[in-house]
Amino acid sequence: MPRALGVLGWLPHASLAASALLFAAAVGARAVEPVDLRAAYSGTPGSWPRPQLRPGAVFEEFAPLPPRTTPDAREAKWIELGAKLFDDPRLSASGQIACASCHAAELAFTDALRTSFGHDRQRGRRNSQGLLVTRWMTPLFWDGRAATLEEQALHPITDGKEMAAELADVEQRMNAVPEYREAFAALTGRSAIRRGDVADALAAFQRSLRPRGTRFSRFVAGDNRALDDQQLLGLHLFRTKAGCANCHNGMLLSDRRFHNLGLSFYGRAREDLGRWEVTRLPEDVGRFRTPSLLNAGRTAPYMHNGLLRSFANVVAFYNAGGGRDRRPSALEGDAPQPTPDPLLAPLHLTREEQEALVAFLETL
Ligand code: HEC
Ligand code: HEC
Repeated sequence: MPRALGVLGWLPHASLAASALLFAAAVGARAVEPVDLRAAYSGTPGSWPRPQLRPGAVFEEFAPLPPRTTPDAREAKWIELGAKLFDDPRLSASGQIACASCHAAELAFTDALRTSFGHDRQRGRRNSQGLLVTRWMTPLFWDGRAATLEEQALHPITDGKEMAAELADVEQRMNAVPEYREAFAALTGRSAIRRGDVADALAAFQRSLRPRGTRFSRFVAGDNRALDDQQLLGLHLFRTKAGCANCHNGMLLSDRRFHNLGLSFYGRAREDLGRWEVTRLPEDVGRFRTPSLLNAGRTAPYMHNGLLRSFANVVAFYNAGGGRDRRPSALEGDAPQPTPDPLLAPLHLTREEQEALVAFLETL
């Protein structure tokens, strides 16, 4: 992704001059206590400056992901089988759409589209989600309607706008492939493949994925030279003035909770009421699960509806205090008015601060 930088783009990042200049920019006219950011962020996350949180925020400290483990031989077979199925269009009614059609490995398992295309080139209403942290992420989907990867796997296969298949047909097609029959039989001890086996293999594959190492992953693991001065300022703003850490926190940079950022298009043509469709609770109208931001540099466009094309757009959006769910003139349907999330407010970030935040997001 091209770096969306203006005036600061030419600065030599690690130089002291840049550091002093950036810090002056950060302080600006507003009263912020001067801190030596490099020193303040030199230890582990628990010793960093406390995040600035609003009432109601549920914060877990930032942390590195647990170390990679090697699957045992049996688990490795499930993973291998799941990887094959993930790429196999025979899971779809048309024989043309695989999971990988909307979840491309080189895009952190997204599809670079605003919203995905599925069966018969039908356009879905949501942006494809990255799959690199599904091992730790629950509940699944933007609206949290699936609790586990095993449960989730059958949704896209049967979704009329995605793979549009009947599970009985999928079982039949899988059983007709000797390679699959033998591989599954070796694992399950049964001669016929069942839908639950397909789900188990897909889940095993997705659970084996993890984000790529990045500057941020090195920094959070203790390499305090991994971020340059501008990126470090961005991290500091993320946790303090910009308020991002109210919701993006913990090792995934997600609180795994649901929030309404004002993007529901309530009462309008592109309406998507998110979590409310699952729970029917009035407070859930327009809420979506906070996404992990790890490797987010490869998952544009952003938000459940793919509305924002770049990190610069995302930062400008939050700087304005999020979106507005406008009251429509004539409302059909039974959803109550959405309430804006109390953790959002206009941020008054300077241009330099917005650029630093973007530079930080690019390190994730
Ligand atoms: C037509 C495009 C398309 C296909 C095909 C597709 N997906 Fe998805 N996937 C999406 C979209 C869009 C979302 C977000 C949907 C939502 O939240 O309602 C998603 C969400 C997910 C999630 C949730 C991730 C999270 O962080 O909560 C998982 C897991 C997933 N897909 C796995 C799969 C698997 C496994 C397959 C194949 C069996 C598959 N997908 C096929 C488009 C697709
Ligand atoms: C009130 C909680 C909250 C706060 C505060 C918050 N976010 Fe988010 N963030 C979310 C939710 C929820 C979504 C998904 C919203 C949707 O799609 O409707 C999201 C989406 C995003 C995305 C898109 C990720 C993707 O995969 O599409 C980025 C990038 C992001 N936030 C960065 C930030 C930054 C930077 C800040 C601080 C300026 C911030 N967020 C503040 C909750 C929050």
